[in-house]
Amino acid sequence: MRVEQLARKGILKIASYIPGKSIEEVKKEYGKKRWIKLASNENLLGPSPKALEAIRKELSKIHFYPEGPSPLLRKALAKTFSLNEKNVVTSNGADNLILMIANAFINEGDEVILADPTFPVYTNVTQIMGGKPIRVRLQHYTHDLDAMLNRVTQKTKLIFVCNPNNPTGTIVTDPLFKRFLSRLPNRIIVILDEAYGDFVENPLYPNSLSYIEDGKQVIALRTFSKVYGLAGLRIGYAIGREDLIHCLYQVRDPFPVHRLAEVAAVAALADKDHIQKSKQLVYEGRGYFYNQLERFGIPFVRSEANFIFVDFKRDIEEIFKRLLGEGIIIRPGRAWGYPTCGRVTIGRMEDNRRFIKALKKIL
Ligand SMILES: Cc1ncc(COP(=O)(O)O)c(C=O)c1O
Repeated sequence: MRVEQLARKGILKIASYIPGKSIEEVKKEYGKKRWIKLASNENLLGPSPKALEAIRKELSKIHFYPEGPSPLLRKALAKTFSLNEKNVVTSNGADNLILMIANAFINEGDEVILADPTFPVYTNVTQIMGGKPIRVRLQHYTHDLDAMLNRVTQKTKLIFVCNPNNPTGTIVTDPLFKRFLSRLPNRIIVILDEAYGDFVENPLYPNSLSYIEDGKQVIALRTFSKVYGLAGLRIGYAIGREDLIHCLYQVRDPFPVHRLAEVAAVAALADKDHIQKSKQLVYEGRGYFYNQLERFGIPFVRSEANFIFVDFKRDIEEIFKRLLGEGIIIRPGRAWGYPTCGRVTIGRMEDNRRFIKALKKIL
């Protein structure tokens, strides 16, 4: 039988997620160089040393399954954010939590509102479930919450708000978010993706915890891949009202978080020194990038995250390739509908300087 008849309706048409190029991948094409990857918003300071120590200690136990609901981490998260453990669910990355949300809440034909551009996984999971993504173009590189409200219909089930938004680094502020939430029919769930929330400095950033405490229909997503520097271990969590989190447990794999990831996350969560240094690295790098880009008259979007969205005013594919020639990987923005823009992760100062130097040479 042809696979078209075997596969679930629509899944063969889904465009798969294209990640940033890895160093391993570019090495094959462009050879050995001193590569720096500024393409996936990882923490270039590296992992927390305390997380590494916790992994070492746990290594000899990996012949045992982990405890399913990752109780150590759940407890640590609940304590850190003054929540009940029933408000927290962990999984192997925020990516997987987004899929769990789709599995738990999207019925075939449901509409899911999201920004354009935003993190592409929201679209993928909606399509997997036979839902319909409704894309609402950003305004001034920021979520247009009024335009999103205007797209709400009887079929709307979920709304994703990526805050800060990937790829533009902008936030929606609390007064706007509060107004938006108050205007939504109560059959809609809002997903606040706070993968980059740790880097936000703007005091008007919404506090998702207060909405959850208030019993609002909001689920916040967070990850250990960014400020905590554990992207390779794949670990993230969602927090929300107990009944909503219970739905996520209903569709959760039995053991999505392995032993090493769990102990590393617990240690990283408590490693305030590493968190502070990681944020400091981003703040310094952000300032440096702003200065340099302004000096060269290159437009960019002011960012609340660990990356910057830059308009190179030239075909981004050309810039992307020339940067690869210099050993630097960034994320080109053509697929987001910005053919002259790219997203650049803020790295260590030596990485940032190398990027600016290469850019000067190219431009
Ligand atoms: C906005 C956003 N949400 C979620 C994720 C996924 O995070 P994780 O590494 O925990 O799967 C990313 C990863 O880059 C992201 O940018």
